[in-house]
Amino acid sequence: MDSLGLFILLMLGCFQWTAAPAAEEITWTYTGLVGQSEWSEYFPDCGGTSQSPIDVVTTQTKYDPSLIPVIPLGYSQHGNKPFTLYNNGHTAVIELPEWMGLEGLPWLFTAVQMHLHWGSGGPSHGGSEHTINGLSADAELHVVHYNSELYPNMSAAMTQRDGLAVLGILIVTGEETNPAFNNIINYLSRIKHADQKVSIPAFDVQTLLPKDLGRYYRYNGSLTTPPCYQSVIWTLFHERVQISKAQLLKLETILYSSKVSDPDKMLLQDNYRTTQPLNHRVVFTSFSAESGKELSSGEVTAIVIGVMCGCVGLAVIVRFIVKTIRFFTLLHHETVVVNSSTSSWDVLPSNRPAPMPRTKEPEKAKEKKQDVALNSTSEAEKKEEPSPSPQTEP
Ligand SMILES: *[C@@H]1O[C@H](CO)[C@@H](O)[C@H](O)[C@H]1NC(C)=O
Ligand SMILES: *[C@@H]1O[C@H](CO)[C@@H](O)[C@H](O)[C@H]1NC(C)=O
Repeated sequence: MDSLGLFILLMLGCFQWTAAPAAEEITWTYTGLVGQSEWSEYFPDCGGTSQSPIDVVTTQTKYDPSLIPVIPLGYSQHGNKPFTLYNNGHTAVIELPEWMGLEGLPWLFTAVQMHLHWGSGGPSHGGSEHTINGLSADAELHVVHYNSELYPNMSAAMTQRDGLAVLGILIVTGEETNPAFNNIINYLSRIKHADQKVSIPAFDVQTLLPKDLGRYYRYNGSLTTPPCYQSVIWTLFHERVQISKAQLLKLETILYSSKVSDPDKMLLQDNYRTTQPLNHRVVFTSFSAESGKELSSGEVTAIVIGVMCGCVGLAVIVRFIVKTIRFFTLLHHETVVVNSSTSSWDVLPSNRPAPMPRTKEPEKAKEKKQDVALNSTSEAEKKEEPSPSPQTEP
């Protein structure tokens, strides 16, 4: 009886242990045993209907004129306190000071941390989480904030709808080195292994962002890693930032997802989630696709001058054509009067009036002859007076 009771207890314990492991204990990955497709088995929210990242199909976005530019607060005021750079086995994280925040959303948000997602194959081989019209960027920066107007801290906010605001910055590869990103990339070699942490000099975080903070995509989504809470107001900037190929290669090849003590070293690569179904959601844009990008005053001036030059040019051309037509018309009349067979129009099987009208012409022809004489001597400006044709005043 005692042994049976113990057996049952053991079985129950065993069953509980295998069926309901604590979610925090689960080591999730992007591929492998607890890869992306298995996340929802351990973290139910990962199987929700408002997940991130998404593919932004620009033709299906909706312009919302109420979306004002986001305003980073204190991003440039880093003070003297160093930042902490941390390899958590999934990404490189920089914890952000609490005086950094975000305005321009319905609530005030306080910065928590920023981290990166990247690929493995170098430029043009994916790495970003969000895609635009199916196209990936090479990497993506996320700056995470919590709603400090409604919630006391990150852990309270992260489970709530409207609890978090994340800025998404798409990173592409170009010719030039981006010095702002070296503030992170230069220190990656000091956190090669999971769980390693290092203090790095503080720097102006705003230099990591694109210049144009007014054009972005906005939608309701989730954390892109377990536990995938659907608590994020996403701001994905339209403008991408550039890093060099060398910078991208460092990001892709320096870090390991394995710990120092692990016998098998595992490179930390391709730490991006595949895009999730949009379902019922709408992606809003702060800019209208039809009107194109906002124009600077210089561009406006250039366009005004261009249009004016075009109009003047068109007027000159129209005048020239009108003049030419009139000239040839007069020439034609003249040749008719002179009865020259060399006129090209006489060769054509034209349906010009037969001999009869010719007899009536001389008076008119004389007037026109004078016109021709005037035209040939006077310059273009003086020519308006003798011509009664309404076409000469465009
Ligand atoms: C966050 O706030 C909640 C609610 O006030 C509190 O219970 C919790 O201890 C706080 N957590 C941290 C990490 O400060
Ligand atoms: C996000 O969801 C809230 C409701 O919780 C809604 O008021 C808001 O308009 C949504 N925002 C977007 C961008 O869809």
